[in-house]
This record gives sequence, structure tokens and C-alpha cells, in this order.
Amino acid sequence: MQQQAIGIFDSGVGGTSIWKEITQLLPNEDTIYLADSKYAPYGKRSKAEILELSIKNTEKLLGFGCKIIVVACNTATTNAIKELRSMYDVPFIGIEPAIKPAALHTKTKKVGVLATKGTLSSELFAKTSDLYARNIEVIEVIGKGLVELIERGQIHSNEMHKLLFSYIAPMIKKNIDYLVLGCSHYPYLIPILQTMLSSKVTIIDSGEAVARQTQAILKSNNLLTTNTKSGKHILYTNDNVDTLVDILKSSTTDYSVSRLDF
Ligand code: SIN
Repeated sequence: MQQQAIGIFDSGVGGTSIWKEITQLLPNEDTIYLADSKYAPYGKRSKAEILELSIKNTEKLLGFGCKIIVVACNTATTNAIKELRSMYDVPFIGIEPAIKPAALHTKTKKVGVLATKGTLSSELFAKTSDLYARNIEVIEVIGKGLVELIERGQIHSNEMHKLLFSYIAPMIKKNIDYLVLGCSHYPYLIPILQTMLSSKVTIIDSGEAVARQTQAILKSNNLLTTNTKSGKHILYTNDNVDTLVDILKSSTTDYSVSRLDF
């Protein structure tokens, strides 16, 4: 089992921001990534649909023999991970908006959270906010349309700039000093966000923390690979291969990308 791959799925190409962190921290592990772009975005779907899609992706990854599943999608984590954990024996790692570190370190007591509707309206998000951010003001904004533009490969379009600024402007007005990115697609927007925000605003995404958690859970389950060579990485998409290839172009890790129906 130790030599089996880490399975990772997301509603599309955005979870590759998590995949990059995992492959950097665990360079000898094999990985299999599923980009469920055909059904993106999950954020506008019902909880039942998100669960159904998450089960479909999990079954596919288990069919490949994956030893652990990383749900590299905030919307799927907040809406389906509890059920997935109760249905399958493999460990599941989820991704949640990093409210805790932002709430702990904010000086202005104002924290912005940019996430999908599915994440912001979930029970898990409400619980996390309640637990860690009771004494601060959390400015929650739904990033409507951002995932769609990223999935269409339009990260640097005028439309993206306009839309993103309309979401960030109310947070700037409120004097936030932390911006939490609550969607695994959004780290690809950090260079644009940095042009809009003052350098005093810290942007937090959960990628590194998810990679560390994956390492810790593999270790505690005695599932870390004993391979000493670089891991093999296969990324599948059920939609446009070019978008996935394009988003990965800055990656220094060797990988292969293929189309697959799932
Ligand atoms: C989405 O599919 O709506 C976004 C993915 C995420 O929440 O990370």
C-alpha cells in the first residue's frame, strides 16, 4: 500500500495549486489528479450534487488503487468530506478556508474571505468562523464567476480584473489586513490580487497546510512511500486538456496530462 499513489480531486484545474504543494513536500510520492472540469463549478451546485460528484471522483481514484484521497476543493470538502469519511476506509484530507491563522494575527480585526457560495453557506464554514473568528469582523464575499473564468483559461483577462476588483473593493474599504482565499482555484489569482491590495494585506491560502497534513496523515498511517526516486504524476481531466496544461506550465515537476471520461 505504501507505494500506491496519493489521489487528489478537484472540481477542475484549481486544485493543482494544492497538487504543486504536495509534490514539492513529498517528491517521492506518486500522485493521480482528477480535474472534474466538466462539472465545474461545484460552488453553484446543491449539497446532494456535490456529494454525488465527490463519490464519483473517489470511486475513480480508489479504482486506481490510491492510498489516500486529498479533496483539493473547498466546496467539496465543506459539503461532502464528512460523508466520504464515513463511507470509505482510506484517509481523506480536506481543504478549509484558513480563517484560524488570519483571525489570530489580524491587527485591524477585519479579515476578508473570498470563497464560493457553496463554501460560505456550508455548516463547516459557519462552525469554523464561529470557533475562531468570533471577535473579529469577517467580510465574506462570494467569488461568483471567478472559477468559470479560470476554467476557461482567462486568468489574465479584463473581465477577470474587473470582477475581482468588484469583490475586493468592499474589503479594502473595510481596512482588512488578511485576505483568506477559500477556493483552491484562487491562488492562481494572487499576482493580480497583489496589484490591487496594499502590501500590508497578507493573502493566505491553504495549500501548504494541506500538504503538511497529507504528510502527517500518511506518516501516522504508515503509508509514506519508501521510494527513493522522484514520484510519477498523472493528471486527468474530463474536459479541455489545454486548460490543464496551461495552468501547469510553471510547474517544475515532471507530469503527464490526459483526457479521461469520468
Ligand atoms: C468550485 O468548483 O466552485 C470551486 C472549487 C473550490 O471551492 O475550491
